[in-house]
Amino acid sequence: MELNRLCLAVIMIINVVVLIQGWRCHGCLEEERVALLQIKDAFSYPNGRFQLSWGRDANCCEWTQVHCNSSTLRVVKIDLSFSRGWELGDLLLNASLFLPFPELNALYLYGNRIAGCLENEGFERLSVLGNLEILELGQNKFNSNIFSSLGGLSSLKYLSLHNNEIEGTISVEGLNNLTNLRKLHIASNHIEGFKSLHGGEDEVLKLSNLEYLELGGNRFDNSILSSFKGLSSLKNLDLTKNHLKGTFNMKELEALSNLRKLYLSGNEIDEFVFSEGIRGFGNLSRVCLFNITANGRRISLPLLQSLAKLPNLKTLDLGNNNFEETILAQGELQYVLMSNLAIET
Ligand SMILES: *[C@@H]1O[C@H](CO)[C@@H](O)[C@H](O)[C@H]1NC(C)=O
Ligand SMILES: *[C@@H]1O[C@H](CO)[C@@H](O)[C@H](O)[C@H]1NC(C)=O
Ligand SMILES: *[C@@H]1O[C@H](CO)[C@@H](O)[C@H](O)[C@H]1NC(C)=O
Ligand SMILES: *[C@@H]1O[C@H](CO)[C@@H](O)[C@H](O)[C@H]1NC(C)=O
Ligand SMILES: *[C@@H]1O[C@H](CO)[C@@H](O)[C@H](O)[C@H]1NC(C)=O
Repeated sequence: MELNRLCLAVIMIINVVVLIQGWRCHGCLEEERVALLQIKDAFSYPNGRFQLSWGRDANCCEWTQVHCNSSTLRVVKIDLSFSRGWELGDLLLNASLFLPFPELNALYLYGNRIAGCLENEGFERLSVLGNLEILELGQNKFNSNIFSSLGGLSSLKYLSLHNNEIEGTISVEGLNNLTNLRKLHIASNHIEGFKSLHGGEDEVLKLSNLEYLELGGNRFDNSILSSFKGLSSLKNLDLTKNHLKGTFNMKELEALSNLRKLYLSGNEIDEFVFSEGIRGFGNLSRVCLFNITANGRRISLPLLQSLAKLPNLKTLDLGNNNFEETILAQGELQYVLMSNLAIET
């Protein structure tokens, strides 16, 4: 009798364990499921149009554009790109909606007409998410105030704010806190420069792990080059379609010993100036100068001669520069430059 009871108890315990395990295998954590449904509500306000099929089944780890860690079953990636219909108008985001996901690694909010955050509910709230490495905020309506809320997200490796409504100068104080940043993508805004509350020498980006910096389609002029001195790991610098003009001072970039690719297309650059006896640039293999001769200008021989000094330049993009109208034929270019250089016109 006693033995039977014991057996029964053991069997019940085993059942309970199997049930719990089974539930965890099949489902996500209840609190995360509820939090995702709250996000869905916030993103479909006011009339309930949400583009992702969330909430149809219990296991939120299998919902569209949600990823969980397979051992902890916690949500690690939430991709809300284009999840709001544009007809819903602008959204003021409540970043606290993402607090229930302690293992969140990647958050994509691309293309949702987000015009900023609710008061006291900005991205500063997410500084407790120590695994957050990827934050994609592109194609929204954020302005320059966004940067003051990002300074606490010290685990970030990738930050994108391209195609937003950022104007004027960006304060470096918040940005320079992001010491793990590998890639910063802020192309297609109306940014003019970087500033510091302290002014002067502090107006420099100090992101020693940054490898990719995408600044195309903004309003930077030649003075921007002095902001890059602290970017010792930078590999790709993209300044396509900005307001750079005339003499491009390569001396300002000498500290960037890892620089591999330099994109300057769509700027009105006439010549490059180097230090006497050229220092650095041993890794620079590609320079893009597509469409630098708008308004009837021409590519000058001195410009090409100065680039020929780069010790390891392999590819020079010179497309869309009215070559047929200039005196420089392709053969002459080859002669001016090194013979192992590929010229793409
Ligand atoms: C899942 O979580 C475990 C425990 O935190 C961690 O060791 C592992 O690296 C994670 N797996 C992935 C793919 O992130
Ligand atoms: C933001 O979301 C959090 C979590 O859902 C909630 O507690 C808070 O009240 C919301 N804040 C506002 C201003 O709606
Ligand atoms: C930078 O980080 C420190 C602590 O790590 C914090 O006290 C400070 O407020 C942050 N600055 C900005 C502008 O976010
Ligand atoms: C190229 O970059 C590497 C680091 O990636 C660095 O160690 C090396 O000195 C650089 N080469 C030259 C020639 O500058
Ligand atoms: C070349 O640049 C000019 C302005 O600098 C611009 O108007 C034009 O659209 C560009 N052309 C191409 C093909 O990008």
